Amino acid sequence: MTQEFTLKIRKSDIPQGRSKVFLSHGIQIALTEVEGTYYAFLDLCTHRDEPLSSGCLKGTVIECPFHGAKFDLRDGRALCAPAKDSLPVFKIEDLGDTLLVDLDEVL
Ligand code: FES
Repeated sequence: MTQEFTLKIRKSDIPQGRSKVFLSHGIQIALTEVEGTYYAFLDLCTHRDEPLSSGCLKGTVIECPFHGAKFDLRDGRALCAPAKDSLPVFKIEDLGDTLLVDLDEVL
């Protein structure tokens, strides 16, 4: 039997245009809302494992506040140096007032 790792969050707890961090199963998950769509991502930049959640958001692109790497939150793609690896972003199920983040399912 496989164990499912999920995080249940009220939509009202997620700010628009910036990120909020939740601790779940020992990892920090950042959530944000952009124009009615929610995104969940690992709060660790793939360049040097610094927290990414305080970075500037422009649309679905977040810029790391440390050395300027940018990631697209829709698929985690690294858009520029110094990051080369994609950011883990997680599948979200919309349950109405709440969201279920599937921590087993990296997009
Ligand atoms: S830690 Fe994010 S760009 Fe270096």
